[in-house]
Amino acid sequence: MRRAKITIVGAGNVGASCAFWAATKELGDIVLLDIPECADKTAGKALDLAQCGPIDRFDCSITGTSDYQAAKDSDVVVITAGIPRKPGMSRDDLIQTNVKIVKSVTEQIVKVAPNSVLIIVSNPLDAMVYTAWKTSDFPTNRVVGQAGCLDIARYRTFIAMELGCSVEDISALLMGGHGDDMVPLPSYTSVSGIPVTQLIPEARLAEIIQRAKMGGGELVKLMGTSAYYAPAAGSIQMVEAIVKDKKRILPCAGYCDKEYGVGGYFVGVPCILGAGGVEKVIEVDLSDEERKQFDASVEHVKELAGLAESVLK
Ligand code: LAC
Repeated sequence: MRRAKITIVGAGNVGASCAFWAATKELGDIVLLDIPECADKTAGKALDLAQCGPIDRFDCSITGTSDYQAAKDSDVVVITAGIPRKPGMSRDDLIQTNVKIVKSVTEQIVKVAPNSVLIIVSNPLDAMVYTAWKTSDFPTNRVVGQAGCLDIARYRTFIAMELGCSVEDISALLMGGHGDDMVPLPSYTSVSGIPVTQLIPEARLAEIIQRAKMGGGELVKLMGTSAYYAPAAGSIQMVEAIVKDKKRILPCAGYCDKEYGVGGYFVGVPCILGAGGVEKVIEVDLSDEERKQFDASVEHVKELAGLAESVLK
C-alpha cells in the first residue's frame, strides 16, 4: 500500500514542527521544501528528524530539499512559507510580502501536485487561503486554511487552566477570521457535556475569550516571533483528518458562498475534513450577538482578500 505523501513548504519554525508531528504520528512520507538559499539547512532538518525514527519508532521517508519535483503527486501540501510577524506587527502587516510568496509557491505546487489538498498556514491566514485558491484554480474543497484548530486549542487550553481539568474534556467551537476579531462561541462550548456557562462566570469567560483572541500576539511578545508548536499541531490535526479520511469536524478556513451568506470567501467555520479535503461546511445557528461578531469578522476577511487581490494583479 502506498503511503500518503505530505509536502510541507517552508522549513522554518512552523514547517519544521509540522514535519516533526507528521513523522511522529507516522502519517506518511514527508517532503520539507524551502528556497534554494536554505537548501542545506532544509536537508539537515529533514535528516535530523529522520534520525528520530529509530527512537520514536516511525517509518517514513523524510526529504529536505528546494526542488519542487520532490513534491510530485503529494496528497496534501501544507504551505507555511512567508515571513512571520515580529513584536508590534499585526498579521495584516505581512500581506504585501506573503501574497507574493504564497502565489509563487502555489504556482510551483500546482505543476507537480495537481490533485493535492492545500492547507494554508501563512499569514494573514484568510487572505493567504484566498491567494492560494485564486492562484491554483483548485476546486474550493481542496483549498483550506489552518487557523481554527489553533485558535480553538488556545481557547480550550485557557478554559482547562481555569477549571483545573483535562483539556481533553473541553469541546468548543470558534468561527470567523484568524484575526483578533475571531469569534469563540460560549454557546457551543462544553466541558464533558456541561455548558461552560454553568462553570465559569460570564465576566471571567469574557476575559478568557479575549485572551484566546489575542493568543497569537501574546506569544509574539514573549518569543519575539510567531508561535509554532501549536500552529503546527493544528495543521497536522488537519493533515491527519485528510490522509486517514477521518471526516473530523474541525474549525477551518473553508470556502463559504451561500453558507452563512458569506458570498465567496474563506472564513473559519466548522468543516468536515476527509480525503476530499473540505467535504462539507456545517451551518450552525448563531444568536444575534454571535452573528454580529461573525459578520464583523467576515467583513475584515473580505477587506484582506481585496488587498490580496490587488497585490495579485
Ligand atoms: C498565531 C499565528 C500563527 O496565531 O497566526 O500564533
